[in-house]
Amino acid sequence: MIKKVKVDDLKPGVFIADFNTTWMKHPFMTNQILIKNQKMIQRIREYGIDEVFIDTRRGKDIVQHLTLDDWNKAFGDETHNVTVLEPIETRKETLAKELPKARKIKSEVRSLIEKVYYNIEEGKAVDIHEADHVVEEMTHSLTRNKDALLSLIAIKYKDEYTYTHSVNVAVLTTLLGRYNGLSDEEIHNLSVGALLHDIGKTKISEKIINKPGPLTQKEWQTMQQHPKLGYDLVKDMEGINEVILRVILEHHERYDGMGYPNGTKGKDISWGGRAASVADIYDAITSARSYSPATCPSVALKKLFEMGKQNILDQELVQKFINAVGIYPLGSLVKLNSGFLGVVVESPREHPVRPVVKLIYDIKKKIIIPPRRLDLSQGIGELHSIVRAESYAEWNLRPEDYIPV
Ligand SMILES: [Fe+2]
Ligand SMILES: [Fe+2]
Repeated sequence: MIKKVKVDDLKPGVFIADFNTTWMKHPFMTNQILIKNQKMIQRIREYGIDEVFIDTRRGKDIVQHLTLDDWNKAFGDETHNVTVLEPIETRKETLAKELPKARKIKSEVRSLIEKVYYNIEEGKAVDIHEADHVVEEMTHSLTRNKDALLSLIAIKYKDEYTYTHSVNVAVLTTLLGRYNGLSDEEIHNLSVGALLHDIGKTKISEKIINKPGPLTQKEWQTMQQHPKLGYDLVKDMEGINEVILRVILEHHERYDGMGYPNGTKGKDISWGGRAASVADIYDAITSARSYSPATCPSVALKKLFEMGKQNILDQELVQKFINAVGIYPLGSLVKLNSGFLGVVVESPREHPVRPVVKLIYDIKKKIIIPPRRLDLSQGIGELHSIVRAESYAEWNLRPEDYIPV
């Protein structure tokens, strides 16, 4: 794959396919060369060359880090008060190979949560250890290629919100845990807690849970009891621990103390509780509900970013979350400078702002086009690059028609 990179990002082992200038203006005899050491990079720099084309088939690839500029472009933020993290390795498997495995895992996790809800509603015993295997599988899939599970959770259907929401929050919280470098045991507890985070809703009337419209004040008060109801439901179960319990109890607490049920504030809320609340809000706003359409994932991140700045959510964790799912998460609708709309279908860590998109709409001609896959990292950056994220509702498009790949 030929792609343009900054000379500052060059590393030994990279193969230069073109110096982006005439041979007279670069220090080597040939226009194609393997970079063997730092000295060679320094010589290129001395010739005033800023960018070159590399061939990733003939040499190493370069992980392009998010920059503050990328961040500000996506979030319209000028404070520069953001943490841009080193991306983690999550592409040991191709998306095509991981997708069938991820589909199976997602359906297993979903069946499990459905069974747990059913047993609790029927007053039957629940064995938390039944979650051990699927939760482990979920973590492994995210490690092999996070895009597989992330693309599956980007498809949402109104009618099955409760179960899919639990699975989605578990996937997102687990990814955040991995990104934060937690131990396997901590991630496991976090995942189980996230999977069960809304379990208290089994004790609330379905009329309130599935009400197609805003809740009355009394209904809202009842709804706000679900974290505590969930906590009480599972606290004596075998295999339950403090991390799991606090994720359930604290996922609606807010960093500024304005959440429920206890109004716990700041770092008094456990890490798991703060992480689950970020994932919970993200999934809720990116899901279509009877009273509101789904928000494009990238637009949802902007809302989270604002909530971080206002201290409603833990700002540092929100930024980690954005680093983990990417500035343009899978399923985002994006406008390209070439006049097309595309849906993000793959987001390799090497190219956080140049994902793979499916072109779906020609803005000038105002027509839906047959979906065409386009890798924005492939030497066509100038021709097609992302201008900004767009709202699905405004364009009258449905994300589920285009993802997963
Ligand atoms: Fe909840
Ligand atoms: Fe929730």
